Amino acid sequence: MIKPPAYVSDIRPYVPGKPVEELERELGIKGSIKLASNENPLGSAPLAVKAILDELTIPNNQNSLNRYPDGSGYYLKKALSEKFFVAEDEIILGNGSNELIDIAARTFLQAGDEAVMAHPSFVVYPMSTQGIGGKPVRIPLRNYSHDLNAMADAVTSGTKMVFIANPNNPTGTINTREEFDRFMSRIPDGILVVVDEAYSEYVTDPAYADSIKHFTAGRDLLILRTFSKIYGLAGLRIGYGIAGKDIISEMNKLRPPFNTSSLAQKAALWALKDEDHIKSTRRINEQGKKYLYREFESNGIKYVPSEANFVYLPVERDANTLYNKLLRQGIIVRPVGPEEIRVTIGLPEENKRLIEALKSVMLP
Ligand SMILES: Cc1ncc(COP(=O)(O)O)c(C=O)c1O
Repeated sequence: MIKPPAYVSDIRPYVPGKPVEELERELGIKGSIKLASNENPLGSAPLAVKAILDELTIPNNQNSLNRYPDGSGYYLKKALSEKFFVAEDEIILGNGSNELIDIAARTFLQAGDEAVMAHPSFVVYPMSTQGIGGKPVRIPLRNYSHDLNAMADAVTSGTKMVFIANPNNPTGTINTREEFDRFMSRIPDGILVVVDEAYSEYVTDPAYADSIKHFTAGRDLLILRTFSKIYGLAGLRIGYGIAGKDIISEMNKLRPPFNTSSLAQKAALWALKDEDHIKSTRRINEQGKKYLYREFESNGIKYVPSEANFVYLPVERDANTLYNKLLRQGIIVRPVGPEEIRVTIGLPEENKRLIEALKSVMLP
């Protein structure tokens, strides 16, 4: 039977958060909640949903669905260029930012090249690196954050890329402006630094690193953002990257021609304008976070303070056993290490259910 190269068969497949329907089918239960994939508990941006509905109420021989989408994503890129004060040819759209991680790895790495990344961090970085025969170089977190000094120390003549998730998934920690500036001053030209800011819209710490500044200064930097998190469009699959136009034009050579759908482009454009939805999402996230912290503290449950819409819990017991016990109570969280779980901040009633369930399975 045909076999892929060893570097492909060695990849550990991505395990997505369990869908609610799957859990309910398996256990024959109802009313489960999913706090596993850092989705927006308020739902999609209403303006984005309206834009899709408007498009679909146009008679089927006049709406856009029978046509290929605008492969260049003109209107969405124009809106993003105005938001970030960058040129349209400095933006690339992806089928989720996930696709852009993969395209970046395929564009800039070749077999044997090293990509430096933190551990634990977003699992797609090592997968995309290994997918083309590259070598992931994993640098342990320090105090649950990217150890940017150690990551800069790990750069060798074989390094072509560095991945930084800021905030980090799964720990929710950030790197500060000072840490990131120092890191960039140590990285030689010719290495692509990918700064993945999937959760940046949730950050409240004023010390949060300013990546755009380094892009403006002409550094080899790719900033990734997504419509899957605060904008609530994870199911539509759309994200974007900002980088110098030479980097973007090389990535465009490997980008599939119609990688983002017309509905996703339209929804994203309107989600950007939906200030009310963004504000309410931030508010409910901050309130949920405060509630969870208070409950964790009063019940002696260890947690790592987060700048995102999820919290990392070093539970000091087998994470899979705990995960399965929570599943039986209809609560889906994410085991992210042997003794660590990650919980998405949900609606107030979901957070309350989570706390009750954690108390019942963790406290004596
Ligand atoms: C750090 C990080 N980057 C990227 C992504 C991928 O998001 P998208 O839905 O845009 O592919 C995620 C999703 O979980 C994430 O946590």
